[in-house]
Amino acid sequence: MRYRADHLANPRHTWAELFHWQIDRAFPNTLFEQIARQIRNAVLSQQLRPGTKLPSTRALAVRLGVSRASVVAAYNHLLAEGVVAGKVGAGTFIASDLPNDIVQTSPHHRIQRHDDFPENPTLGDERAFTGGRVLVDARTVEVWRKLTQRTFRSFSPYHLGYTDPRGAIELREAVCGYVRAARGVNCDVDQILITSGTQQAIDLTIRTVLTEGDSVWVENPAYPMTVQALRAARMTVHAVAVDAHGMDVAQGMRLAPKAKLAFVTPSHQFPTGAVLSMARRLDLIRWAKSTGAWIFEDDYASEYRYSGRPLTSLQSLDTAQRVIYVGTFNKVLFPGLRLGYVIVPRPLLKSFLSSRYLMDRQPSSLHQPIVATFLAEGHFLAHLRRMRQMYTRQRDVLAAELTKRAGDLVDIVLPDQGLHLLAYLRSKMSDVRIEKIARESGVITRALSRLYLAGPTRSALILGFTGYPPQVIIPAAAKLAKIIRANS
Ligand SMILES: Cc1ncc(COP(=O)(O)O)c(C=O)c1O
Repeated sequence: MRYRADHLANPRHTWAELFHWQIDRAFPNTLFEQIARQIRNAVLSQQLRPGTKLPSTRALAVRLGVSRASVVAAYNHLLAEGVVAGKVGAGTFIASDLPNDIVQTSPHHRIQRHDDFPENPTLGDERAFTGGRVLVDARTVEVWRKLTQRTFRSFSPYHLGYTDPRGAIELREAVCGYVRAARGVNCDVDQILITSGTQQAIDLTIRTVLTEGDSVWVENPAYPMTVQALRAARMTVHAVAVDAHGMDVAQGMRLAPKAKLAFVTPSHQFPTGAVLSMARRLDLIRWAKSTGAWIFEDDYASEYRYSGRPLTSLQSLDTAQRVIYVGTFNKVLFPGLRLGYVIVPRPLLKSFLSSRYLMDRQPSSLHQPIVATFLAEGHFLAHLRRMRQMYTRQRDVLAAELTKRAGDLVDIVLPDQGLHLLAYLRSKMSDVRIEKIARESGVITRALSRLYLAGPTRSALILGFTGYPPQVIIPAAAKLAKIIRANS
C-alpha cells in the first residue's frame, strides 16, 4: 500500500504535536531520511507510542520549514517499513503492530529493548533438574554464619559509606591471589572490578567496548543470557559453530572478520561442555590481536572440575591484553550471593571503571568482606573440595538412574566439569516436546535445541545436577525416563 497525502485530512490533536520535531540542515542525510529516522527513533524510545496519530504532512512541513514532499516521502518510507499505518480519511498513525526488524535496525539510538525478553521457564524454579542451582552443605552454612556475624561486628563507617567503585580491596586481593594460582590469570589488584556476577560483566562490557550495531561472535549454541543482552543492546550477533574442540574460530573469522568482540566459554563451553582446544585458543588471541577485537572469557564453572587437569585460562595466554576475564562466585558459592569479578585489560580499565561507576557506583559493601575472609582463611578451598565430592556423586546418581531406565533412548555425556549434564535424545524425539511434557509432570529440563541461534540443532535435555540430593534426583530421573520412553 502506498501512502497517500489525502489520508491526512482533518488532523486531530495528538501527543505527536508536542514532540520536539527538528531537522538539521547541516546533516548530510536528505530531509526525508532525517524525518523518517526521527519518527523511527521516537518509536524505539517510546516517545511516540503505537497508535499515536502523526501530524498531517502539511502541518509537519510547516513546522519543520521543509517542503511537504519531504514529509510525504518520509511517511511513505515508514509506511513501506511498517512503522506507520495510514487510514483513508483518518490520518497516519504509528503502527500498532510494529515489525521486529524495525527495532533491530535503528543505528542511532542506544536504547535497550526488552519487550522480546523470552519467558525463562526455569527462572527461580526449585525443582529438579533446574540448572544453575547448587546445594551447600552444613559446614559451609555454619562457616558463613560465623563469618557474617564477625564481619558485621567489625564494620566501620568506611564500610557503611560510599567506597571504591572497583569493590573492596580485601576481596580484590583475595580474588587476585586465587585467579593467579588457580587459573594462571595475569593480573594486578587494580585491574579487578567486583561485579554482581557474570551478567553485570556482560552488560558492562557491552556498554564499554561496543557501539550499537557492532558485530559480535557468540558460540552456537550459546548461553542465552549473553545473547539476550547483546540483542537488547542492538548488536549484530554472529553465531559461530561449536564442535568437540569448542568454538570454530576459523568460521568466526570467515563470518565476521571485523567483529569487535567474541564471547567464549573456553574452559567448559556452555552448554555442550566442549573445551576450546589450545590451537583455537591461540588462533583466537592472534585474531583479536591483529584486528583489535576483544575476547570475553566467561570462566563460569572452572572451579567444578571432577576429573582430569583443566587448561589454564585463555587470559593466561594473552600477551596482547585482549582478553576480558570474567569469573563468578554465584556458581561456586550460591547464585543468591550476586558477586563476581572482571579482570580488565589495562587499555580498557578507565572506561570500565567509568561504566561501573555510572551504572551503580559500587558493589554493596555488606557481603564483600565475608567472601574475602572466606577465601583468605581457606574456607573456600575446603568448600570446593567437599562440593566437588558431593556434586560428583549427584552427577553419577543422575547418570546411573537415567542409564538404567532409558539408556537405550538417550546418550548421556558425563561432564568432567560444570553443573549440568546433557542427555542426547536418540531417534527423532523433540527435546522441546519432552521439556514441555516433563515440566507438566514437575520435572524441569531445558531443551538444548532452543539454545542454538542457527541450525542445524541437536536434540538433548540439559539437566542440572548440583542443586539436588540423590533422594530427589532418583525419583525425578525415573519420572523423566518414563516420559522419554512414552514419547519416543
Ligand atoms: C555460561 C554461564 N556464565 C555465567 C553464569 C553465571 O552468571 P551469574 O554470575 O550472572 O549468575 C552462568 C549461569 O548459569 C552460565 O551458565
